[in-house]
Amino acid sequence: MNRSPLCVLLSAFVCATTSACGPKAGAAPGPLSMASAELARSRWPEASAESLEQGRQLFLSNCHRCHAYPDRAAYTAEEWPSLVRRMGRKAHLSDAEAMLVLRFVLTDREAGSGASWP
Ligand code: HEC
Repeated sequence: MNRSPLCVLLSAFVCATTSACGPKAGAAPGPLSMASAELARSRWPEASAESLEQGRQLFLSNCHRCHAYPDRAAYTAEEWPSLVRRMGRKAHLSDAEAMLVLRFVLTDREAGSGASWP
């Protein structure tokens, strides 16, 4: 599907104001709890509260300009990595930055949904 920049802008605006299209979305994500950081560390030993917060900030400054926070439970833990890889390219993130965003989303998803890790 070819979309002009104006169309993307418009649809982002419509999504933000009516949520009539695009991914099911919510308000901007808040910081993760320390318990969530512990959860992330059990999955990725090198993860930390700081790196998860970095992922959240990267989301806010790079993803949130186009659309609101996607419903993290709408996609499985198996679907998220390729979604964030594809969207990371849209947002011009490096692989390392996209990884931080992915870990933030997966941790938030896990903390909120009780679903299992990939
Ligand atoms: C340049 C604008 C733009 C940026 C930047 C952007 N997105 Fe998107 N995103 C879109 C559009 C438009 C769609 C709906 C069409 C599609 O899926 O490509 C979308 C769809 C999505 C979806 C739903 C995918 C689907 O097709 O079901 C998710 C999840 C998502 N984005 C997450 C992110 C994340 C995470 C980031 C930051 C790494 C991000 N987006 C950055 C424009 C953007």
